[in-house]
Amino acid sequence: MGLRHCHDFEDFRRLAKRRLPGPIFDYIDGGADDEATLRRNTASFEACDLVPNVLRGVETVDLSVTVMGRKLAMPVYCSPTALQRLFHHDGERAVGAAAASYGTLFGVSSLGTVSLEELRRKHSTPQAYQFYFHRDRALNRSMMQRAKEADVDVMMLTVDSITGGNRERDLRTGFSIPFRLTPAGMLQFALKPAWAINYLTHERFRLPQLDQHVDMGGGTLSIQRYFTEMLDPAMSWDDVAKMVEFWDGQFCLKGIMSVADARRAVEIGCTGIILSNHGGRQLDGSRAAFDQLAEIVDAVGDRIDVMIDGGVHRGTHVLKALSLGAKAVGVGRYYLFPLAVAGQAGVERALGLMRSEIERAMKLMGCSSIAQLSRANLRFR
Ligand code: LAC
Repeated sequence: MGLRHCHDFEDFRRLAKRRLPGPIFDYIDGGADDEATLRRNTASFEACDLVPNVLRGVETVDLSVTVMGRKLAMPVYCSPTALQRLFHHDGERAVGAAAASYGTLFGVSSLGTVSLEELRRKHSTPQAYQFYFHRDRALNRSMMQRAKEADVDVMMLTVDSITGGNRERDLRTGFSIPFRLTPAGMLQFALKPAWAINYLTHERFRLPQLDQHVDMGGGTLSIQRYFTEMLDPAMSWDDVAKMVEFWDGQFCLKGIMSVADARRAVEIGCTGIILSNHGGRQLDGSRAAFDQLAEIVDAVGDRIDVMIDGGVHRGTHVLKALSLGAKAVGVGRYYLFPLAVAGQAGVERALGLMRSEIERAMKLMGCSSIAQLSRANLRFR
């Protein structure tokens, strides 16, 4: 089965599972604890029904949206995700190029494997820089300064990861970066030769957002250790207010869930919030972003751009979020499995499928622009 035969998220997931070493697949696929939030994320969309209007003469559909001051050709963007070079040798290069060809925003992670400068030079599509708050304040300053000089459009501070989530799949598989040549690691190489040849014959694994600032030469680093040893669990609203001031541009918080926090984000001058539970990878039992969306839009939607991510696999999921008042919707695993399957071509196919699903659903809903979507189109069970 090849790319042409991939029609939805599950097709890509199945192929990625075949291609990737088990620990890498599980790192992408897994969540925290019992993975209840991971499951709820997609289920939350299914608990809401669409109520279409007909006979509205919908010939063409305009999918563009404006979010955090930037116009996107479609209302879906590629959320920042870590370590993409592990999934495909082109990593962020493939994702950035695919996002650019669909005219949408992509995020580059602090744990990205291609430098934000290189991606900025190559693509004119808006770029967000996903930022973690480190214990070392000087490090935070210099990383932000660097992003400013690179002309990154949006600062995206992750606020739901001051400590690592309990990802039991990773504990069981011993997932670590870079991939270790232990007997278990070698077995994985042998089991997935196509992946291993690509990994070994392309450029060395690096974390260029961090390795200019921190000595990453000390061997392997688990995500858990990075979170626990380098990130600052004491991060506070005052710290973030200072960052917002220093950045002096589009600044959004990723991982806001409560109304009180959404209000606080407005007060300190953020221009966006992303309702997110980190794809169910951090606090298991946390509510799905979609379930929390209406409340937050009602409280702050007129003062700040509200986005959501988590469990989005279908154009109709996006439509439901937009109908409730989200300005745009982020996807992660939705493009990571296609990346693993076929690099840029895979991500482009996934974004293309998503775009045509949204376009078709808009027509069937009787809407020719995103602005026409409203809560009148939804019923919760
Ligand atoms: C994760 C972090 C790195 O979810 O964002 O794995």
